[in-house]
Amino acid sequence: QLITFPPPLPNTGSILIPDAAHPYMPPGPSDQRGPCPGLNTMANHGYLPRNGIVSAADIINGAQEAFNVDYNFSVALASFALLSRGNVLLDRVSLGLESPLVPPLPGNIDGTPGGLGKHGRFEGDVSMTREDFALGDNVHFQQDLYNNLLTYVANYSDGHIVSERVFQEYRFARFVDSYLRNPNLTFHVGRHGFGYGEAGFTLNFFPNAKEGNLTVPVMTSFFQHETFPQGWFRRATRFTFDGVINAADVVETPHPVPAGAKNASGVYVPDGESYTDTICGLYLNLAGENVPAVLLNTTGMLRQNVDTLIRGVYNIFEPLNCTLVEPSGPA
Ligand code: HEM
Ligand code: MG
Repeated sequence: QLITFPPPLPNTGSILIPDAAHPYMPPGPSDQRGPCPGLNTMANHGYLPRNGIVSAADIINGAQEAFNVDYNFSVALASFALLSRGNVLLDRVSLGLESPLVPPLPGNIDGTPGGLGKHGRFEGDVSMTREDFALGDNVHFQQDLYNNLLTYVANYSDGHIVSERVFQEYRFARFVDSYLRNPNLTFHVGRHGFGYGEAGFTLNFFPNAKEGNLTVPVMTSFFQHETFPQGWFRRATRFTFDGVINAADVVETPHPVPAGAKNASGVYVPDGESYTDTICGLYLNLAGENVPAVLLNTTGMLRQNVDTLIRGVYNIFEPLNCTLVEPSGPA
């Protein structure tokens, strides 16, 4: 399956989601769902294939249509998803865990693609509603963590509106919890960036555009029920990578946390300066160290797809003057 990216969809502004063609249907027992409430919700409404086995184009089109994610940013996320946890020859990735529909590459050069729920590369520690891999269920919604988030809405807001302040405090508390309890805590600059970015996603994608602020019932609909709330309108403008960077900064600013990981003695070691000071360091960690180098040992259409996806990730970092990175991670 030769991978090409579909052209951008025109922005039709703040429209009612879902439309009549995308009703909610609960996933069946073999449908794949995973650690991303955004993708799970899209699949539950058929904005992604309902079986949870998706192509790069499925992600790119679905994210633009359902949430008004910027085209270039969608291309980068889809490309990283395929490179890190999918089968790049078949152009398929599972939203959850392993699936017979996403077999290993020829020669089994990178093992069985685990899906987006497999720990490491994309899924990582210090999530908001999933446990750290070493501590519990890192894939599915965890009610106790969510209940804790709601206490932050009560303590730092009015119990109804989910403000920036709520995530500034809750995100930091999640790090402290992992720091204290998880002997394998891994929070390198790529995952660190995603972690804060995902809090930014919550504040910028989940609000009903008709209401402005994010409210508890709307947030619960996405995280807990993985369905669009009744009468929900998506954001009017596209949310770009620039927007994500700003939103992540806002969440981290009151309580900065160094990116890093615990070593064998259980000491948290911050990442080197070349990583943490710039967005290009984040890119180096993601596109280099979280994508296996064996993908470069390929030929033909497989290699063409690898190159297409490497460019797909790079497309949002090129304007920031980062140097193109090739995969260098372990298989
Ligand atoms: C988390 C993938 C789009 C909201 C995640 C995670 C993955 C992922 C693998 C798990 C990371 C972790 O917490 O360990 C993707 C991909 C996307 C995408 C490939 C491609 C477009 C979206 C969109 C939204 C969203 C459009 C919101 C509308 C979130 C949130 C989390 C998350 C809030 C954090 C969950 C938590 O910490 O409990 N995503 N995502 N994502 N995603 Fe997505
Ligand atoms: Mg996680």
